[in-house]
Amino acid sequence: MKLVRLDTREALFTQAAEWFARIGADAIGERGRFLVALSGGKTPRPLYERLAASVELDWAAVDLFWADERCVPPADPRSNYQSAREALLDRVPIPADRIHRIAGELDPLAAADAYEIELRRALAEAGRLDLILLGIGMDGHTASLFPRHQTLTETERWVVPVHAPAAPPWRVTMTLPLINAARHVLFLATGAEKAEAVRDLADGKPLPAAMVYPTNGDLTFLIDEDAASLLP
Ligand code: 6PG
Repeated sequence: MKLVRLDTREALFTQAAEWFARIGADAIGERGRFLVALSGGKTPRPLYERLAASVELDWAAVDLFWADERCVPPADPRSNYQSAREALLDRVPIPADRIHRIAGELDPLAAADAYEIELRRALAEAGRLDLILLGIGMDGHTASLFPRHQTLTETERWVVPVHAPAAPPWRVTMTLPLINAARHVLFLATGAEKAEAVRDLADGKPLPAAMVYPTNGDLTFLIDEDAASLLP
């Protein structure tokens, strides 16, 4: 696990964009495709805008997935898909059939089942995701894996519905077995409001984000100085 502290948010998103592009180019060079899962929430948006504005990548060879989604229609402002659509998808030449969104408008269980089938089909050849972007909540949740929730003990399924202690409550999330099979996992955390969760993570508290540990891949935390403010 690599913990990288950046002086500013700007520096963090510059670093994140460089790594996204490098991991992407390597995957396309080695396997012809780059399978990446985006994270939701507010934190990654500047990264998506930067990827659209300044990163060279063969977007025709990129398959986009989501680590989780809120059970709302795709045009809903709370939709992780909608947020990425505005900041990235509408600005890069990625083919529509390579955008694998979670159908938040469906019944949560139906949406989870459908996404699991789609993921197993997409990964049948590639085997695993090349990169998963994740955020961390103030309670240490990541994707829609929340503290003390039964979804943390899932060992078979790759995607499950979740009734979360957050708004909106119904969500669909990737599970730890799928996340921990990825080649690269990149956490982004910015701002003082994340400092306690980052400190608790560093102290080894059993937070959901601490259960992300790729079995045969690398794990990197990019944090800015504000998010690192409670670390030694
Ligand atoms: C979601 C996210 C979630 C997010 C954290 C941090 O759908 O909300 O996937 O896991 O990454 O809640 O959210 P912020 O970046 O908005 O602080």
